[in-house]
Amino acid sequence: MVLWAGVAILLGVLGYQQLSGKNHADRYEIAGGEAAIGGSFALTNHKGIRVSDKDFHGKNLLVYFGFTYCPDICPTDLGRLNQVINLLGEEMNKLNVIFITVDPERDTVEQLNENSTNFSDKIMYLTGTKEEIEIAAKAYKVFYKKVENHEYPEDYLVDHSSFIYYMNKEGKYITHFNNTQPIDEIVARVRKEL
Ligand code: NI
Repeated sequence: MVLWAGVAILLGVLGYQQLSGKNHADRYEIAGGEAAIGGSFALTNHKGIRVSDKDFHGKNLLVYFGFTYCPDICPTDLGRLNQVINLLGEEMNKLNVIFITVDPERDTVEQLNENSTNFSDKIMYLTGTKEEIEIAAKAYKVFYKKVENHEYPEDYLVDHSSFIYYMNKEGKYITHFNNTQPIDEIVARVRKEL
């Protein structure tokens, strides 16, 4: 029974991957449920400044994990974050928005700084050592896994969950959004807590 369940799950995952052709993981549940999402992290931003979770306390926070070499969904999700930011307008002074890379190997400070010009300057990009990224991802129960590219080793992808997490002024979890949710709905929910 356990074996068959495993096979069924595997087929389900493969089926999804073939269907979508995307290396994103909305299909994954948040590992261990939604309780206690968030926590301490210490990373470096796209300006080369060290920051920790405490630096974002005092304002609500949107957190997204992704990587700048992502061919499809990360740029789309960043575009969606951009829309949220624009619609919030003045209220953005009560909100921080951060993008944490799941690809610290390629997402250096320089790479993040360069990529930052494609989107709203309200988004702060964070990188760190492999260990620092692991700690941050674990705190947010984010799944990510490098997908080796044997033909072109430099052009690997990173499979990762792609939720937007919404945290309060004390860094406590409020809710999360997936990448099919209408922008207006996200804006309304964010605004409700500001
Ligand atoms: Ni991505």
